[in-house]
Amino acid sequence: MNVIIFVPIVSKFKRHLITAALPYANGPVHVGHLAGCYLPADIYVRYLRSKGEDVKFICGSDEHGVPITIKAKKEGITPQQVVDKYHGMMDASFKEFGISFDIYSRTSKKIHHETAAGFFKTLYDKGVFTEEVTEQYYDEKANQFLADRYITGTCPKCNNENAYGDQCEKCGSSLSPTELINPKSTLSGEKPVLKKTKNWFLPLDKMQPQISAYIESHKDWKSNVYGQCKSWLDQKLQPRAMTRDLDWGVKVPLKDAEGKVLYVWFDAPIGYISATKELLGDDWKKYWQDKESRLIHFIGKDNIVFHCIIFPAMLMAHGEYITPDNVPANEFLNLEGDKISTSRNWAVWLHEYLEEFKGKQDVLRYALCANAPEAKDNDFTWKDFQARNNNELVAILGNFVNRTLVLSEKYYGGKVPQADEYNKNDLYLLEELKKFPDKISASLDAFRLREALSELMNLARAGNKYLADNEPWKIAASDEKRVRSVMNISLQVCASLSVLMEPFLPFSAAKLGGMLNLKGLRWRDAERTDLLKAGHQLGTASLLYDKIEDEVIEAQVNKLHESKKMNATPSSILPQKAETSFDDFSKMDIRVGTILEAERVPKTDKLLKLKIDTGIDQRTVVSGIAADYKPEEIIGQKVAILVNLAPRKIKGIESQGMILMAENAEGKLAFVSPTRDINNGGLIK
Ligand code: MF3
Ligand code: ZN
Repeated sequence: MNVIIFVPIVSKFKRHLITAALPYANGPVHVGHLAGCYLPADIYVRYLRSKGEDVKFICGSDEHGVPITIKAKKEGITPQQVVDKYHGMMDASFKEFGISFDIYSRTSKKIHHETAAGFFKTLYDKGVFTEEVTEQYYDEKANQFLADRYITGTCPKCNNENAYGDQCEKCGSSLSPTELINPKSTLSGEKPVLKKTKNWFLPLDKMQPQISAYIESHKDWKSNVYGQCKSWLDQKLQPRAMTRDLDWGVKVPLKDAEGKVLYVWFDAPIGYISATKELLGDDWKKYWQDKESRLIHFIGKDNIVFHCIIFPAMLMAHGEYITPDNVPANEFLNLEGDKISTSRNWAVWLHEYLEEFKGKQDVLRYALCANAPEAKDNDFTWKDFQARNNNELVAILGNFVNRTLVLSEKYYGGKVPQADEYNKNDLYLLEELKKFPDKISASLDAFRLREALSELMNLARAGNKYLADNEPWKIAASDEKRVRSVMNISLQVCASLSVLMEPFLPFSAAKLGGMLNLKGLRWRDAERTDLLKAGHQLGTASLLYDKIEDEVIEAQVNKLHESKKMNATPSSILPQKAETSFDDFSKMDIRVGTILEAERVPKTDKLLKLKIDTGIDQRTVVSGIAADYKPEEIIGQKVAILVNLAPRKIKGIESQGMILMAENAEGKLAFVSPTRDINNGGLIK
């Protein structure tokens, strides 16, 4: 005799702590952020909650780091004002989008400063850090050490004159500030000097064996994640400074550390811990220090080394913490074939989407999950968004639910009919239905969310096929008994769908729950085929999704291209030039003049030969404005002209001065001209 013993698969974990990368509070949320980690984390958390697991979902704003101080400088406000503005915006748009954090905190909070400083102090007291005196660039005028991004100079590899201290954006090389030729401080324009400074380093080199063993014990991680970790380890880990000479951040809690803050990548992940403390009080320890707790970090691929190597190293060095059990990092999402870029304004901003597509959170959630960059970079296009809505949400899921509910209303006044007997078709569908929760679980447990979503849609497809095969509307009058069974079964499929779709499509799941007059169901319930009892009164039917028209999509595509064109984006604004003196400026003799004649310089595209009345005299100037102005349209134009520039020959013509022009990022030119009537020869000063 066979004895079948059921061994329930019990998770070895008692509780789960799920984090999503703390976004920098220096800009609003866009679709790339959502697809990278916030949406997958939310789907996974909602799934765990539905299974009845003990789970906490942690996030908040990362408010330190150089990008924030640079943004502040650009906008002419303080770093605190920058983070206040964007923290509020991000918090609100995440909420409205249904990202169900248990807490959305921020790293400027006192509790975080204390937690991060305390963590550092513990490592310091344990003698974990090595102290190293290194030479760093210092700006003597601004009286401060310069972060890599605050230094520009000529790239040693490609001669680009605007390379940054950490990277040349022209040739892509990563650099260190001392490699730059002619380094300049972006704060004062001065040449920085090298000055000695002491910092505290995490000896990742010495910890390599321990970290290797940790990574090797996680061969189950996604291959993109495991692969990146391996390559870091293969290149041998280097000690990394955990303190920086900066004034924005968590102060280093040591006596001889005046003017130093914690490295932002030391403080930010500790933000997960501080936020848990803020959320749970003393209970926080259970989630971080009990072996039966499971820590999972959802991130984008640019964060892998920090979450898989540096943060675990910090946690191991501390000694009282568990380490991340999984780090399901996604690749990047591109937009309409181009890299998403905040500075070029090539992005779909969440707050704008929420405004323009009111009540359609689930459509974006669906499109982003169906197209998630799980294994490789992927592209978001508005056309795909429309197709996902019209051909999948409307035509498959919405259509099945709507037909079922409308017919139930029509035939039975919204009371669930009794199924008297099942035929082969019915039994087949009911058997299939029972398998779905486990199928979708298997995909979700492996962080294959796209696959999970497509399984969910397969259930709706099966429902649609069942209706089409059985055509209850055709036999409504002739075979009432059969129709009752068909409708009962279709309604049971709707009920299961309402449970299984919740992690992905929480807004429509709630709406469907209302239409079915069902609530409080858990993941496991979805395998039941009797969720709706005969006689149960349903709510009113309404559409879950509606069609998105071509005009709406075209408008979005146009908006994207327009805003890219219009915006003189921050990165396209050249940094301020080196300081000059009033004396130097006064040496330039700039006058108001009028263009008397203009003609093209033969065999050139850009040059016009102008005759200008400068008030002093009439002179010839050759000017590169032919792409923007036709000769005939500028006769009589008032201009600003630098009259004491040394004459030079251009295409054989002596140019005796220079017209001042304003130029935008696209190279479009405009005259600079007095806004009142000032006579020729008037001095510009
Ligand atoms: N702010 C970082 C980024 O946007 C992510 C920080 S994640 C944390 O890339 F672990 F440090 F919090
Ligand atoms: Zn370069």
